Formats: sequence, structure tokens, C-alpha cells
Amino acid sequence: MGNENKLKEIEEKCREAELPLKQEAKNLVFGKGNAEAKILFVGEAPGRNEDEQGMPFVGAAGKNLDKLLNNVGLSLNDVYIANILKYRPTENRNPQPDEIREHTPWLIEQIKIMKPEVVCSLGNYATKFFLADGKVDKMEKQPGITQVHGKVKTIDFEGLKIKLIPLFHPAAIIYNRSLLGPWERDMEIVKKEIAQKTL
Ligand code: URA
Repeated sequence: MGNENKLKEIEEKCREAELPLKQEAKNLVFGKGNAEAKILFVGEAPGRNEDEQGMPFVGAAGKNLDKLLNNVGLSLNDVYIANILKYRPTENRNPQPDEIREHTPWLIEQIKIMKPEVVCSLGNYATKFFLADGKVDKMEKQPGITQVHGKVKTIDFEGLKIKLIPLFHPAAIIYNRSLLGPWERDMEIVKKEIAQKTL
């Protein structure tokens, strides 16, 4: 069975599971993109548009991400995109530790199927999750995205050797245009990693 079907299978299991935020949300937001890609982008949580459509990164942050990927010759065909939280937090508030703890086993299932060689973590929550080796209690102690963006770190995650490349969140770039330069420099690093691996 190809990755796409395997991902569909666990998406259906996830849809059945009881998870925090499920009651308040309209739709499960599981993932999108090329299920065979070896590069995975991980965001924080669905926003209003994502909740409406059941798709990650379709609102303003998503449009910016598409543009930022296009700038360096990448598209959804080259990557897969998922989030730390699978349902929208009410009023877009920050993810809470218990929510992260209960939602991320589904992200881990996605990772086990896809076996990505490169993970680009978008913003603080995704970055800290991977730097903390998936241990929610250790997330708080991790350095923030301003310190670690663009710094490639090889991590051992669930038995997989993954190159983690932390990136600023595309929503942050909308509000703070001075982050565009650093993002573009960081994307050169992503491109180099992809070229090396001919992903
Ligand atoms: N921001 C995220 O982190 N994820 C989305 O899916 C949309 C906005």
C-alpha cells in the first residue's frame, strides 16, 4: 500500500478518536501534499479557514507559505504539510500542553508512514516539539525560533534519522516583513538539503 492510502487509513482512525478541541471544531485538519515526499513541513494548529475546509494552510498563512515555497521553486508536489494540533483551538489561542500531548501521537503516525528525511518545523511550537524529542514536558526549556531558525539539526525521532530545519512561521512573516530576508536565507538551506538528497 502506498503512503497516500496508509495516511488515509490513519486519518479515518484519527477522525473517530476522541481528542481535545474536537467538540468545538468543525473539521479534522490532518494533512495535505505529496504523501511520498521526503520533506515534511509541520505547522502549529489550524485556523478558522483550515477548520472550515478541513485542510491545513489554506488561509492567509497558507497563501503566504505557497508563495514562499514558489519563490524557491517548490510546491505542494514536493512536500507534505501537517500540524501539531489536528483541530482548531478556540479563538486561535496557543496550543495547551495536554492538547499537544494528545494530538501529536497522530503526527507521529504520519511521520512513521512517511519517514521524512527533512522536517521543516514552522514556528515555536513545532520546533520545540521536535527539539524536545516529542516530550511535551521538555518543550518549555527549548530555545525559541529566533535563536534556532535555519540551524540544521540531525535528530533521532521515533527511530528515524531526521534533519530538522526550524523556520519562521509563515504567519509571522505576514506581520513582520523583516523576517522575509531570514526566511529566504533559511530556504536556501532547505533547498540545498533537498538537492543533496535528490528528494
Ligand atoms: N497555521 C498553522 O500553523 N497551521 C495551519 O494549518 C494554518 C495556519
